[in-house]
Formats: sequence, C-alpha cells, structure tokens
Amino acid sequence: MPDGMLQPESLVTSLTTLLGIRVPIIQAPIGSFSCPALAAAVSEAGGLGILALSWDSLPRCCEKISQTRAATQAPFGVNLVLEWDQTDRLNACLDSGAKIVSLFWGDPAPYISLAQRTGAKTMVSVGSSEEARKAADAGADVIVCQGFEAGGHVRGVAGSIALIPAVVDAVAPVPVVAAGGFADGRGLAAALALGASGVWMGTRFAASMESLAHPAFKTHLLRSGESDTQHLRLFDGGWPNAPHRVLRNSTVDAWDKAGRPNTGMRPNENEVIGRLQNGTEIRRYDDMPPVVGMSGEWEACALYAGQSVGGVRTIKPAGLIVDEIIREARETILALVRAGL
Ligand SMILES: Cc1cc2nc3c(=O)[nH]c(=O)nc-3n(C[C@H](O)[C@H](O)[C@H](O)COP(=O)(O)O)c2cc1C
Repeated sequence: MPDGMLQPESLVTSLTTLLGIRVPIIQAPIGSFSCPALAAAVSEAGGLGILALSWDSLPRCCEKISQTRAATQAPFGVNLVLEWDQTDRLNACLDSGAKIVSLFWGDPAPYISLAQRTGAKTMVSVGSSEEARKAADAGADVIVCQGFEAGGHVRGVAGSIALIPAVVDAVAPVPVVAAGGFADGRGLAAALALGASGVWMGTRFAASMESLAHPAFKTHLLRSGESDTQHLRLFDGGWPNAPHRVLRNSTVDAWDKAGRPNTGMRPNENEVIGRLQNGTEIRRYDDMPPVVGMSGEWEACALYAGQSVGGVRTIKPAGLIVDEIIREARETILALVRAGL
C-alpha cells in the first residue's frame, strides 16, 4: 500500500504498519516534559507516545514503563540520549518489555544490536543523510530525520525541506519520520509529500495538557512566534558543547548584551535561579527546562522550543491534538486532490 493511503479510521503508511499504530504521528521525547500520561494519551489516540528516560534511575525507568503500559495497550516507545553510556538503562527498559527504542546523539550501533536481541524495533534520530545511512546500515528500523528548525538539542545544520528527501533517498526503503518544524496537519501532509512516512512533534506536545512543562511556559509557547527561537550552545550545564534551540529569554538577552562571552565568563555564571520540587538546584546555564512544580525563575531556564512554536496556539489534551492533526492532514490532502493536483 503506498504511503499516505487514507482509511476511515486511520492513515496508513509504512511507519504505521511497521510499528502497529493507526496514525503516523509520533510524540517526540521531550526530556523532563515527557511522562507516562502524555505517552499513553498519544498512543491511545493511535499515534506513538515516547518516554524520555535518559536521566532516570533504573527503577524509575521500569516504573514509568509499567505506568504507561497500565494506561494503554497500544504500542509506545522509550528514548535514550547517547551522549552518556545508556547500556544499563537500555537493558532495564528491554527487561521491562520495551518494544520500541528511540536513540539520539551518538553511535547507535551497539544499542541497536542489544535491542535486536529482544526483537525490539529501533528508531534513530539523525541530522544528515550521511548519519542516516550509517544508522540504516547498523540496522535501524526507522530513521528520524531532525531538521535545523527543531526544538531542544539539534543534531545537524540542514532544514527539514532539504533534509527529508535527501534522507528518504539515502535510506530507502527504511521508513523516515520528519522532525523539526511540524505542528499541524498541513505539516504532516507536507512531510508525506516529501517522502516521509510520518511526523515527530516535540514543541506541539510540550504544550499539551499532559506535558510536565511549567504552566507559565506552556502559556508562553502560545504567545511565541516562529522567529522567536535561537540556535545556541548556551545552556551547557549538564550537557556541554551540544547545540540546541531555545526561545530568547532574559538569560539569552543578558549574555548577548555582554558580548556573548565563553562559558565561565558569562553574566551570573553558576547563579541558582530555581529549584525542582525535590530541592535540586537549577543554575543559570543548566540544560534543565522549566518543569511543573519548580520554584524560582522559570523564564530564565532553557526554554527549549522549535520554530514550529509559531503553530502552537492552544493547550489541549494530547489525544485531541492527534485527532486534530489527522483531520487537518486529510483535509489538506483531499483539497489538493480536489484541485486536480
Ligand atoms: C523540550 C524538549 C526536550 C527534548 N528532549 C529530547 C530528548 O530527551 N530526547 C530526544 O531524542 N530528543 C529530544 N528533543 C528533540 C525532539 O526529539 C525533536 O527532535 C524536536 O522536538 C522536533 O522539533 P519540534 O520541537 O519543532 O517539534 C527535545 C525537544 C524539546 C522541545
């Protein structure tokens, strides 16, 4: 069946068939904003929810997987960032029955082999066609192609429009998922037209009811436009030398005004700007985004968001977001067909 085939209750692509989901929408792992309720809501709506487990203890990884499984029988995924050794976490996830593993930022080959031994499927996020080819050669089942527009940590330098077809051609017939710049059904239709088999959205789901983003940050996302983000290496506490996309805020502005000095010489370096609910300190240039329950200056934290923020205009339950995106994608595709294109 060709990708993008419209069915009454689903939108079938090679991705949905491979993962056993109904619609080609993946909730990107969004670090500390991810949680079982969010992943389960997206999966229940027919998409794929993902837990971001890179920084959790092994028991906590297992607990989050159990909580998600208790909330949905539909498939869901786990995500690990390979900047750090994730062997123990991956083994814990696989022992807990994880069937879909997403990997980002590092050499995925050893982790793909581990996952393959249990029959779990792997999705590898890449920022270039060269990286995509290596991941596909290592046995990745799905390639997630992350464009420069993306929020959070950004792997490559090419924008989605140029990157998606290049990656699709590089790894065919491996399904490619488009990430970075997508917030609605028009974006899903465009991604399918470029040869992708689905979309992966982070910022849109950060503004869902279930996300653990600080409520004031969610509202801030609604007021922000597509030109309000910057690609920087500024919030390096906890994850050095890793480019990321954030909304401009008071921390970025003060650093800009000071002439963009290097780490160690920036304004108010090491200042404690807030605390997590468990008392953990958040320092000015830490990689921690504003989460619910934190105290202090949420606005001064790393405000991860993609250019897609311009398309985020309401805070809704994640399941309704999935439904709305599918409805709009159908309307977009059908309008093109009716126009005789
Ligand atoms: C708040 C936030 C946290 C993120 N955390 C992770 C993460 O833990 N693991 C990961 O693989 N990607 C992470 N990403 C990147 C996303 O997977 C994805 O590439 C990005 O959100 C796509 O761009 P969009 O935000 O415009 O949809 C994060 C993105 C955001 C916005």
